[in-house]
Amino acid sequence: MASKFYITTPIYYVNAAPHIGHSYTTIAADTLARYHRLLLGEKNVRFLTGTDEHGQKIQRAAEAAGLSPLEFTDTIVPIFKKLWEKLNISYDDFIRTSEDRHVRTVQRVLSILKDKGEIYPSEYEGWYCTPCETFWMEKQLEDGKCPDCKRPVEKIKETNYFFKLSAYQDWLTRYIYEHPGFVKPASRYEEVVKFLELNKLNDLCISRPSERLSWGIPFPFSPEHVTYVWFDALINYISAAGDFDENGLYRSEWWQKDAVVVHLIGKDILRQHAVYWPIMLKALGIRLPDTVFAHGWWMVGEDKMSKSRGNVISPLDMVDKYGLDVYRYFLLRDVPFGLDGSFSEESLVQRFNGDLANDLGNLVYRTLTMIEKYFDGRIPVREAAGSNAAPAAGAIDAKLARLSAEVKAHLAEAADYNFGAALESIWEAINMANKYVEETKPWNLSKEGKLTELKDFIAVLVDVIRHTQEALSPFMPSTCASIRQQAGSHVIKKGNPLFPRIDTRKPSA
Ligand code: ME8
Ligand code: MG
Repeated sequence: MASKFYITTPIYYVNAAPHIGHSYTTIAADTLARYHRLLLGEKNVRFLTGTDEHGQKIQRAAEAAGLSPLEFTDTIVPIFKKLWEKLNISYDDFIRTSEDRHVRTVQRVLSILKDKGEIYPSEYEGWYCTPCETFWMEKQLEDGKCPDCKRPVEKIKETNYFFKLSAYQDWLTRYIYEHPGFVKPASRYEEVVKFLELNKLNDLCISRPSERLSWGIPFPFSPEHVTYVWFDALINYISAAGDFDENGLYRSEWWQKDAVVVHLIGKDILRQHAVYWPIMLKALGIRLPDTVFAHGWWMVGEDKMSKSRGNVISPLDMVDKYGLDVYRYFLLRDVPFGLDGSFSEESLVQRFNGDLANDLGNLVYRTLTMIEKYFDGRIPVREAAGSNAAPAAGAIDAKLARLSAEVKAHLAEAADYNFGAALESIWEAINMANKYVEETKPWNLSKEGKLTELKDFIAVLVDVIRHTQEALSPFMPSTCASIRQQAGSHVIKKGNPLFPRIDTRKPSA
């Protein structure tokens, strides 16, 4: 098994506040990072997030706010950081593309690629979509407009620098055939394969004239040009994790042979990550990431949730209303990772009342209540185990013995980081325990003076609580901390129910 794990989110644009979609990728990455810290040790995991601060969009947003681009981004970055803090995001590093370490690395990359002959200047004429910062070929336009955002395009003629993407098409196509795990899930893999089969790659225009766009990383060998924002942005994954030596060799403990490197992204930015980025790395002589995983979209009705559509829901509102871990749980449980999902508060409330209040919350609360009532708050020690245990207890023991292996299998790259299945497996144990309570009728054991049975019964429940707490902690860190606090030592410290039910009955007329 690999000894190090490096996971990244996209670096988000700072032209607007983050919404549920951004929080989704970040919470998923946080859960995987926390999970791998348990497996590999804290210091062997690196979790990177950050902000994408250059380019036209940001320059315009800054102008609209009456600020310089850097002043503007300085006001937005704290909004991201505060949100991540509120969502309990355990990132190890936060990179801003306006930082020196990043600017330096991008300029180094440009010089290295220029020296290797991978970058060349050429006159260019094309249709440009300013909001998308994308050049389109005539035949790609739809009704003369940008095929992505449907807004008008402008014809632009200028000298720019190009990166030799086209020279790597055969290499990339073969690489992707030979590495079916490089792009995940399978539907996205197929999308990239199709794209490479049906299209001839053009060289990538990686500069912008600084007279048109001043807010970008200057070309080290051409003061008239700044770096195209996507070329700049992708480099964050290496600028945050290492450095080039004097010979142009990239050194990083996170991009070594024995590390696993995973980029979590949304499917909107698949091509940049699955086509441009591997070619950039190959040209630089840097190893490729192991996996680019592109999840689906949170929709509102039929539309993607996005700032340009103006239909965003704020993660903070949801967290304030329902609680942080409920929100984290809902996002990872309700929609299979990889597919699109429709965001609805009703489904969230259903999960809350069902899985969280009825199942998990109830198990913890009723168990601690019995420990209070029958054993003065002291957790009893089990006497009968193995073949001496009651049959239901034996089945529960067996489930707990395989729980961590099940979770591990579901959270593996090979299973497409199936958070939902991992949670289902944890809930199986919770539900077995609740059923065990209903079938055992502990109040009768108590009345009949069957003290040993009662002790063993409660000890089994405590086992379930402790094991599920452990498995669940990457998903719901503060809930699990509270469970540990209440039931982690010999004497319980019972608190309020973890998830008091939300009343969904309509008030009667
Ligand atoms: O694209 N559903 O930044 P961005 C799910 N700066 N995820 C969503 C989502 C939705 N409706 N909306 C956004 C950029 N996301 C570039 C990235 S990386 C080198 C540069 C998430 O602010 C999802 O992860 O537009 C998506 O890929 C990302 O936010 C786009 O964020
Ligand atoms: Mg976007």
